[in-house]
Amino acid sequence: MILTDEEQAVLDGEKGAGFQKAMELVVALGKVYGAESLVDIASAHLSGASYKTIGDGGLKYLSDLAAGGAKVSVPSTLNPVGMDRGRWKEMHISPEFAEKQLEIIDLYGKMGIRKTCSCTPYLGDNVPKKGQHIAWAESSALSVANSYFGARTNREGGPGALAAAIIGKTANYGLHLDANRRPTKVIDVSDFGGSVFDYSLLGQAVGMEMGRGVPYFRGLRGIAIEDAKTLSAAMAAAGSVALWHAEGCTPEAKDGLDISGLEHISIGKEEMKAAYDKLNTADDVQLIALGCPHLSPKEMHDIASMLKGKKKRNRDTEIWFCTSESVREQCAEDVKVMEEFGPVLADTCMVVAPIEGTFRRTATNSAKAGNYLPTLCSQKVMFADIPDLLKVIE
Ligand code: F3S
Repeated sequence: MILTDEEQAVLDGEKGAGFQKAMELVVALGKVYGAESLVDIASAHLSGASYKTIGDGGLKYLSDLAAGGAKVSVPSTLNPVGMDRGRWKEMHISPEFAEKQLEIIDLYGKMGIRKTCSCTPYLGDNVPKKGQHIAWAESSALSVANSYFGARTNREGGPGALAAAIIGKTANYGLHLDANRRPTKVIDVSDFGGSVFDYSLLGQAVGMEMGRGVPYFRGLRGIAIEDAKTLSAAMAAAGSVALWHAEGCTPEAKDGLDISGLEHISIGKEEMKAAYDKLNTADDVQLIALGCPHLSPKEMHDIASMLKGKKKRNRDTEIWFCTSESVREQCAEDVKVMEEFGPVLADTCMVVAPIEGTFRRTATNSAKAGNYLPTLCSQKVMFADIPDLLKVIE
């Protein structure tokens, strides 16, 4: 890999230990993946923010970086953390966990990272632009950034994204290069309802079918940001898709992409039913958790409209609504209605919170949560659309 004099100086430690450590990691990743150079990035989004996922080892790593003077060089946002900072007691979180979690947030803050903790940073103050090179972790968000916004990022891990944020550069390989952004399979979609839940099922079906690669969808009409985030999350969890195109909808597809000679996969009712059956494994639940990825203002409004005028009758089942702090603030009227049923939690989610200490059966409308709740949180899962889940508590 060819480094500029300035990059070499950082690698030699001239900017301090924190920057040196970060440069070493970015260069090492670049060598592994055959990058010839580094490329400037416009923003970063970091995962590895929950104490549940990074533990004491991660906390120590962050402390060392911060102590070494590391600071981010580009606008950088953070993924959800293990609790709502102000309402962790309502989430059955222990004081010990809360203390460590607050310490982690503080360390990220010391390094200049914005303390908004959401997996939908593009709904807030980190909106990627077409053609921009960025370094994002968080599998759903980076896929939205690549596909819906046309920005360029690999599927970064937490430490890789943080290192890139510190030096303001990432290794130029993978989805940063035109050649790797071309579609690899055509997905012909039929019998598609077009609800957000349908996008969850579609993403699950395609992720199961393809595993990895770059799907090119045909048969989808306009895609809203809610559809894009749901589809991206599902394909990233059921497979490892980090970029997709949709004919007539996404920016690079609109520019024109060559799909001649590619294998076609048909996704219809049968494949969507198989996707549903894979995720739905529980008949009754203790917790209904909505907001994976974090609820948008429109989704908050839709849920509040469904709940307005109703009463919570089922006292045995909790319901959590997960969103970002900024969306919660924007939707004050909707929040009032939703809070009659359960807490509207900011900057956390059902997967990165330690829910396994309290619950064993959780319901979700998200294929991503449906994949991760059993493996990361020891849950049985009820997988259903929001109106059906709300009926459980009414
Ligand atoms: Fe976001 Fe948590 Fe889902 S980070 S995408 S709500 S698993």
